[in-house]
Amino acid sequence: MTVPWRSRPDLFRIGLLLCATGAVSGQLQLEPLNSTVLQGSDARFNATVQGDWLVMTWNVGGLLVVNFPVTGNITLSSGQFSARFCSSGNTSCVEFTIHNVTRSGDAGPVVCGVLGDYGSKTAHLYVQESGTVNVNGGNVTVVQDQQVEFQCVTSAWFPTPTVSWTQNGQAVSSSLYNTTSMANGDTFNSTSVLKFQAVGNATVECRATVLSLTSPQSSSVFLVVVPKPPDWTVLIAVVVSIGGFALLVLLIIGIIFCYKRKEEKQPNYQDEMSKRVRTHSQISGANAAGQRQGQENAGYVPEGQTSVAPSELTDSGFPQSNGFKVYNVADANQAGNGYSGAHITVGESGVRKHRHITIV
Ligand SMILES: *[C@@H]1O[C@H](CO)[C@@H](O)[C@H](O)[C@H]1NC(C)=O
Ligand SMILES: *[C@@H]1O[C@H](CO)[C@@H](O)[C@H](O)[C@H]1NC(C)=O
Ligand SMILES: *[C@@H]1O[C@H](CO)[C@@H](O)[C@H](O)[C@H]1NC(C)=O
Ligand SMILES: *[C@@H]1O[C@H](CO)[C@@H](O)[C@H](O)[C@H]1NC(C)=O
Ligand SMILES: *[C@@H]1O[C@H](CO)[C@@H](O)[C@H](O)[C@H]1NC(C)=O
Ligand SMILES: *[C@@H]1O[C@H](CO)[C@@H](O)[C@H](O)[C@H]1NC(C)=O
Ligand SMILES: *[C@@H]1O[C@H](CO)[C@@H](O)[C@H](O)[C@H]1NC(C)=O
Ligand SMILES: *[C@@H]1O[C@H](CO)[C@@H](O)[C@H](O)[C@H]1NC(C)=O
Ligand SMILES: *[C@@H]1O[C@H](CO)[C@@H](O)[C@H](O)[C@H]1NC(C)=O
Repeated sequence: MTVPWRSRPDLFRIGLLLCATGAVSGQLQLEPLNSTVLQGSDARFNATVQGDWLVMTWNVGGLLVVNFPVTGNITLSSGQFSARFCSSGNTSCVEFTIHNVTRSGDAGPVVCGVLGDYGSKTAHLYVQESGTVNVNGGNVTVVQDQQVEFQCVTSAWFPTPTVSWTQNGQAVSSSLYNTTSMANGDTFNSTSVLKFQAVGNATVECRATVLSLTSPQSSSVFLVVVPKPPDWTVLIAVVVSIGGFALLVLLIIGIIFCYKRKEEKQPNYQDEMSKRVRTHSQISGANAAGQRQGQENAGYVPEGQTSVAPSELTDSGFPQSNGFKVYNVADANQAGNGYSGAHITVGESGVRKHRHITIV
């Protein structure tokens, strides 16, 4: 049953009456003067009166919600409110309760008045709302030392909640996260972004709280850190540089080798040239067979000429003292490793010398 007590002429009349009789005097105290509670919970206030009194009233949101005569015949505006003596038989203390408080209906001044010269006292009721917390994205797997980012979204809080993070239960430095909030109707949403370098497996928890919340709301995810894979770029760089160095060394060795060989053969060649000039007439007669052998196929031996005398291939009169062995082509092929064979071909342009060197 709701009693609309917007005006209190009757109560005032009673009060005036009491004042006139001089029956009341003393003090009224109200506590707490500020009360912060969560929406949905109960808010309680105590009024202590020193001295005799007849009627106590409570106003919430500008409406008279309780009329409490000292006789105990209480009238309530709704079941959301209640009042009783703090202890039975002691009329000096009254406890007033607002059940299931709502921010829209109950937040604001709570006024207790006692008729007579007690006057009234005003307390303030703050109603907060606890919303939701969620770390987006779920569990995360990253490579060690990688930068990892978590996003925590809180919705429908009032006022803006205090957002904090923990890692394995330890508070995370506030320099590692940023929280921004925005109004969402008459509540607030907020987004907190946490960034750090992944070192090891961890439970990452986002916590949101407001003053009236006894334990924070939280949401947690698991961070799984996998070891760094071997750094292939370094390995590749090492392999490439070693390979490059080896190639360079081989190249240098090759160049030196070729150069040495050239130096070795240079005088021989000049000797040969000068001798060839001298023995030109002799050679042209002797080496008709050599011409037919061709340039590429050194092993080819024309039919009917199974063996060519060394003297025929060698420049006649050429002394074999310079350490340069000259074999007949067939012999050179059979001789194989480590030997060098040479034959001389006489073409239209004159004397041409081909060296076939086989080194294994
Ligand atoms: C109640 O809150 C107001 C404003 O928030 C503050 O000025 C005042 O000091 C508080 N009173 C008590 C008793 O905490
Ligand atoms: C009101 O008084 C009663 C009895 O003294 C006490 O138990 C209770 O905690 C008080 N409530 C408040 C809100 O101070
Ligand atoms: C309370 O009010 C009822 C009627 O509403 C009345 O019958 C009763 O006697 C009153 N009790 C006291 C203690 O005043
Ligand atoms: C009634 O309660 C008040 C405060 O709670 C206390 O100071 C007083 O002594 C009590 N009176 C009796 C008679 O118990
Ligand atoms: C509290 O109040 C809200 C809104 O007025 C209502 O929906 C809810 O059922 C109430 N809860 C209780 C326990 O009375
Ligand atoms: C995250 O990992 C934990 C433990 O490994 C598991 O219990 C949980 O279900 C995972 N959560 C999601 C969203 O995958
Ligand atoms: C937080 O924001 C400030 C300025 O916007 C920026 O300098 C800082 O790097 C941010 N920190 C994180 C962890 O995002
Ligand atoms: C606040 O969060 C809720 C739930 O996540 C969402 O529906 C709403 O759009 C958000 N409001 C704003 C202003 O971002
Ligand atoms: C993290 O946990 C996974 C299994 O959950 C394990 O394989 C991995 O080695 C752990 N990483 C570290 C750095 O401890």
